[in-house]
Amino acid sequence: MRIGVIGTGRIGTIHANTLSRHREVGSLILTDVDPARAQDLAHRLGETAAPGVDEIFKWGVDAVVITTVTSAHAELIGRAARSGLPVFCEKPIALDLAGTLQAIGEVEAAGTILQMGFQRRFDAGYTGARDAVRSGRLGRLHTVRALTSDQAPPPAAYLPQSGGLYRDTLIHDFDVLRWVTGREIVDVYAAGSDAGPAMFREAGDVDTGAALLTLDDGTLATATATRLNGAGYDVRMELAGELDQIVVGLDDRTPIASTEPTGPPAADKPWTGFLERFGPAYEAELCAFVDVVRGERANPCDGREVLQALRVAEACEVSRRQRRGVWLAEIAGAAGTAAM
Ligand SMILES: NC(=O)c1ccc[n+]([C@@H]2O[C@H](COP(=O)([O-])OP(=O)(O)OC[C@H]3O[C@@H](n4cnc5c(N)ncnc54)[C@H](O)[C@@H]3O)[C@@H](O)[C@H]2O)c1
Repeated sequence: MRIGVIGTGRIGTIHANTLSRHREVGSLILTDVDPARAQDLAHRLGETAAPGVDEIFKWGVDAVVITTVTSAHAELIGRAARSGLPVFCEKPIALDLAGTLQAIGEVEAAGTILQMGFQRRFDAGYTGARDAVRSGRLGRLHTVRALTSDQAPPPAAYLPQSGGLYRDTLIHDFDVLRWVTGREIVDVYAAGSDAGPAMFREAGDVDTGAALLTLDDGTLATATATRLNGAGYDVRMELAGELDQIVVGLDDRTPIASTEPTGPPAADKPWTGFLERFGPAYEAELCAFVDVVRGERANPCDGREVLQALRVAEACEVSRRQRRGVWLAEIAGAAGTAAM
């Protein structure tokens, strides 16, 4: 099969590498608004670069992978859908609900496939947690604690186009919370702090955020994120039930030190970022996409899944700005409702 990759930055490079090595993928066509970037990657992988997105569609491909900046995702998803092509797209679809619903509508009207890149669904730790919840061995869950801590902040220019900490970062925790527990989030209470570097205040964003979430079976969850975790990149989820409790993301590279004399030793080589922490998961989700395109497995994460996670992020933004609890039902885009 021949696959077009649109956007050859950080994530596009990872995905193109995976596809280029895949035995079912005959060739790739790579493109980027910065043509030199696409040419350089094509040269390194022994693939072909196209001068623009138009050529991807004109030259003919069997599927498209979209790894551009977020603002271009929705339009490209629509274009691929109208061409009848299956798409893998990095999260999110768009930074707003209207754009997200529009793109999902195009895919559903065309009857094509849209697989979204929530790679934590392919991580061994989260998969193990989901299996543990499903098996019943934890008993009824009462508390879930999720966290994502980046070691260093992104460049200032990234912040205004990121959608903010809840839509950009915590959206992963919201999705995987739903996926691991199999429950929906019904209300949120969120707070944020912009007490760190001024660039967060200037962008109207926060450097650290926390949300208290209630699931539809009464389980309470917290999700926190920061851009300023000097110790390293830390992504974890603790699930506590009436019978047992487990943790995802606690290993010999977790950047946290115990103050107990008999506690585990501090990590020699703490995780530094998502590309190394989730490398195997990024590879697995692209291999899954090839299987989906070949009709060998069901889509593991469609646009509606991203919509649900985005609605939680939207609710958190409303909550932290208005300093009040927010019901998910207040946020547009629930099944059967129109965009506001
Ligand atoms: N799943 C994850 O963990 C994860 C991690 C990082 C980024 N992402 C997502 O991946 C996407 C890309 O992020 P990144 O970190 O690779 O960014 P990046 O800036 O490194 O790369 C984006 C690339 O897209 C190109 N581009 C922009 N508009 C384009 C267009 N219209 N047509 C063709 N190319 C275009 C840019 O020139 C750049 O090379 C974002 O949507 C981001 O949210 C997901």
